[in-house]
Amino acid sequence: MRMKLALLALLICAGSALAAPAPVPAPAQKAARVALAGRVSSEAGGAMEGVVVRAKGVGKTIAVAVVTDHEGRYSFPANRLAPGKFNIDIRAVGYDLEKPVSVEVAKGATRRADLKLVKTKDIISQLTSSEWLLSVPGTERQKNQLFRCAACHSLQPIVQSTYDEQGWLTTFARMRSYSEQAVLEHPVLLPYKVAVQPDPEFAKYLATINLSAASKWNYELKTLPRPTGRATRVIVTEYDLPDSGRLPHDADLDDKGMVWYNDFREPLIGRLDPRTGETKEWRMPPLQPGFPEGTLSIEFNRDGFLWIPRFRQGGYTRFDPRTEKFQTWLVPPEWNTSHAIQPQVAAAPDGTAWFPGGENLLIFKVDPLTGRIVTYPMYPDFHPDEKSSGIIQFSYSDTPTGHSTYGLAADSKSNVYICDIVGGNIGKIDGKTGKVTLYKTPTLNSGPRRVSVDSEDRVWFGEYYANKLGMFDPKTERFQEWTAPTPWLGPYPAKTDKNGDAWTSGMGADMVDRLDPRTGNFTEYLLPTVNANIRHIDVDNSRSPVAVWVAEVHQGKIAKIEPLD
Ligand code: HEC
Repeated sequence: MRMKLALLALLICAGSALAAPAPVPAPAQKAARVALAGRVSSEAGGAMEGVVVRAKGVGKTIAVAVVTDHEGRYSFPANRLAPGKFNIDIRAVGYDLEKPVSVEVAKGATRRADLKLVKTKDIISQLTSSEWLLSVPGTERQKNQLFRCAACHSLQPIVQSTYDEQGWLTTFARMRSYSEQAVLEHPVLLPYKVAVQPDPEFAKYLATINLSAASKWNYELKTLPRPTGRATRVIVTEYDLPDSGRLPHDADLDDKGMVWYNDFREPLIGRLDPRTGETKEWRMPPLQPGFPEGTLSIEFNRDGFLWIPRFRQGGYTRFDPRTEKFQTWLVPPEWNTSHAIQPQVAAAPDGTAWFPGGENLLIFKVDPLTGRIVTYPMYPDFHPDEKSSGIIQFSYSDTPTGHSTYGLAADSKSNVYICDIVGGNIGKIDGKTGKVTLYKTPTLNSGPRRVSVDSEDRVWFGEYYANKLGMFDPKTERFQEWTAPTPWLGPYPAKTDKNGDAWTSGMGADMVDRLDPRTGNFTEYLLPTVNANIRHIDVDNSRSPVAVWVAEVHQGKIAKIEPLD
C-alpha cells in the first residue's frame, strides 16, 4: 500500500514537471492485453460509431463481437480471442465490409485491422421487422396488425411477395393453420383445424405494401440509428448449437454457470458449457405422436430440477441434471385434448409447479411429491363453451376481448402471476386457494407476455403489443410502464438484475434493452446477428457488471451480452 502511494506521488510530480499536462502513459504490458483492434470507417461517413465487429475463429463455434466507439475504434481483449485465425464481419445497417477480412491473432501481440465499409447492395437482408414497420406506409392500427405476423418469420417475405387481395386471403388461412413453432424452413401444422374469418381489409392493405402492383416499393426504406455512447460498451459472445436448425427458445443459467436450452422444434434439452462451447443434448420420449414436439420454455425449480412444459404434447416433464433422467406427468385426461397447450411453468418455492392449460383457460398445479394435480379455472368470467383465441392473435382489435395465459411466475410466498396476453391483464393466483384476481394494465391491449418476479415480489413483464416494459407492484396494486426507444422492439420477457436494472428484448429488432427504472433511461445493445428473434432473458448476477443470456431462436444460437459498465 505504502509503495503504491509513493509511486503515485512520483507520477504526480513527474506530471507537474512537464509544461503541458501529458496523457498518463499506459503501462507497458497494456498493449498485449488487446488481441485485435482497429478503426472502422466508410468513404461516405468517415469514422463510424456503433458498428458491431464480430470475430469468429475459423472452424470454431464461438464468435465474439464488440462495438466501435465515437471515434470508430474497436478492440477485442486478449482473454476473448485465443491465438488463431479469425474471420471478421460487421453489422451496420446500410453497409458491408469492402472486402472479406480474416486475421491471424498471435499470442502476446496486438493485431491491428482497420476496416473499410462500403454502401451495401443488399439492404433487404439487413432490415429487421422493426425497420420494415417503420418503412411501410399505413395507419398505426394496420402496422399493429402487421406486427402480429412477425412471430414465426420476419416481415421480409411479406413485403417481397406479389399477392393481391385474393392471394392474401388464401395465404392468411395457410398461416393460421401453423403452430407457433413453425418457421419458414420448417412449417409445423396445428393439431386441429381452424375456421378462419376472412379479413379483406387487411388483405387489401398488404397488397399496397408488397410487390403485387409494382416491381419496386414505392416507399423509402428506413433504418434504425446505430448504437451510440453507453450502448457501444459491450461484448457479445455467440455460441453455435450442434445443429444450425436448432430453435433454442429459452436459455437458462444454472448455479454452476452452465446454460440450458430447449428446442422449439425437437423434443430435446441441451446444456452449453460457456467456457468451452461444448454442448450435450438429451431427447425426451414423445407423449402424443403426430403432434408438434418442440417445447417453448424451461425453468429450474428450487431443488435444481429442470421443468419442461411439453407445449402441444399434453404433459409436464422434469429433468434431473444429476441422474440425467426425465419424469413426466400427463395433463388430466378430461383436458388432454388437441387444444391442450402448456407453454410455460411457474416453479414455486413450495415445490409445486403451475402450468396453464390451453384454450380451456384452466391452470394446473402439480405437486411432484404426491403426483397430485389440482385444476383451477383461470378466469371467473370465462364460460367453458367459449374457446380462448389462442396465444398468437392474428387479428387486431383496439378493445381486446377474451383471455389467454402466456408467461407465469411465482413469488416468494408461492403465489403465481400470469400474463393474459389477449386480455391485457396481469393475474394473481393465490397459491393456496387458487383464487384469481385480474389487474388491467394501464395501456389497453398491452400484450403482456413473459413475466418474472423480483426479490421484492414485484412483477416484471414485456408489453409486447404496446412496446413497453411493465411492472406491477402487488403491495400497492400499482403499475408502471416504460416505452422502449426503438419502435416495434416487441418487449417479450422482463427480468431485473441485482442492481435494480430491468432487462428486456424482443422479436422485432435484435436488441437487448436495459432500463434503469429510477431514471427511465434505456440502453439498447444491438446483437451481431440479423433476425435473431429473442423471447427470453436470463441474468447472471454472479459478476459485476452483470451479464445477460438470450437464445437467438431463429438463428440457432445462444448469446451472452456483457455490458462493460
Ligand atoms: C404461426 C406461424 C406463422 C405466423 C404467425 C405467420 N406465418 Fe407466414 N409463414 C409461416 C410458415 C411456416 C411459412 C413457410 C411455409 C409456407 O409458405 O406456407 C410462412 C411463409 C410466409 C410467406 C412466404 C411464402 C409465400 O406464400 O409467399 C408469406 C408471404 C407469409 N408467410 C405471410 C404471412 C402473413 C401476412 C402473416 C400475418 C398475417 C404471417 N405470415 C404470419 C408461418 C407463419
